[in-house]
Amino acid sequence: MSGSGAFGIRLAGVGSAVPDKVLTNTDLEKMMDTTDEWIVQRTGIRERRIVDPSREGTYTLSRDALRRALDDAKMKASDLDQIIVATVTAEMTCPSTACRISDELGATPAGAFDLVAACSGCVYGLNVAQAMMRAGPSRAIGVIGCDAMSTVIDYGERSVSILFGDAAGAVVLTRDEQDPTVGCLYQSIGADGSLWEALYMPRRCNEIPAGDQDNPIKLGCLRMNGREIYRFAVKKFKDVIGEALEATGLSVDDISQFICHQSNVRIIDAAKQKLGLPDDKVHINIDRYGNSSAGSVPLCLDELWRAGKIRRGDHILFAALGGGLTWAVSVWKV
Ligand code: ACO
Repeated sequence: MSGSGAFGIRLAGVGSAVPDKVLTNTDLEKMMDTTDEWIVQRTGIRERRIVDPSREGTYTLSRDALRRALDDAKMKASDLDQIIVATVTAEMTCPSTACRISDELGATPAGAFDLVAACSGCVYGLNVAQAMMRAGPSRAIGVIGCDAMSTVIDYGERSVSILFGDAAGAVVLTRDEQDPTVGCLYQSIGADGSLWEALYMPRRCNEIPAGDQDNPIKLGCLRMNGREIYRFAVKKFKDVIGEALEATGLSVDDISQFICHQSNVRIIDAAKQKLGLPDDKVHINIDRYGNSSAGSVPLCLDELWRAGKIRRGDHILFAALGGGLTWAVSVWKV
């Protein structure tokens, strides 16, 4: 999709929100049979943030991230035409998280909906939002990626719980009438539903596939086939980034930041190696936040944004993979 229409689309503001509470690998050592050394070696994670469910969750983190993105853009919620929240951990599925945020921040009658694409959610959301702006008449859209993964983790089980943390990030997109060259230059979303059993959250026993009936993880909590996801993610990261570069005619040198979902540092390292991506172009924060699912990409964006590492005119690439299994990529001139 070309960014050279009658108007451009700008990242007008970025924000994020994470809980204060830190859960370190040493804390996990006291809760289950694991070690800091094992977790760091296999995943790159040292600590993650988790919500206090008595006062925080997907709703509060999403709201706070959007508020910060609006402040950054010097805009009010009433300026928004749409709010999209990408999440798999909404406290309620009806109403959507987006509707409640719209009400509290004062965005009514903006359109508001939640989007489910797991770790790919925020990149799905950015792609959907920019396409809505191209189709008209939306002029400003708030896109939030947020997951409070600690609320769907069984901390009695060590293979999944060590990976995840809680975070939200938000982006406010606006029309830019002055510069039609800014915006999304290429986007792609995809899914292979035949692989759903690699990552799922069953609510009832009859949803659990026969081969996974002996899995001790509690109902309502995340189940994962780590090895299958690992293999899938290494290949897909390489494929989607390679396809985006080919489609845009951009080289690795032309992209200032590859903003990748923080699934496991070894998965990102493998993609970096295969594609020849330099260290300073692939932001890593999984050591501090773990895998925060839909929160991960916009949290990275916010850290880069605040550090002044994304400048006007830069090309940036977002890439993410997640449950579904889903994948998404998006290349922007900012
Ligand atoms: N601490 C210590 N030992 C552990 C732990 C733990 N927390 N968890 C598993 N083990 C043990 C296993 O029991 C096994 O022991 P055994 O050899 O005696 O049977 C051994 O470690 C190896 O287990 P594996 O599951 O084969 O370990 P692996 O090297 O595959 O690492 C991991 C597991 C880290 C989950 C890896 O498969 C992975 O990162 N996969 C990708 C998962 C992912 O990114 N998911 C995110 C969601 S989707 C997305 O974001 C794209």
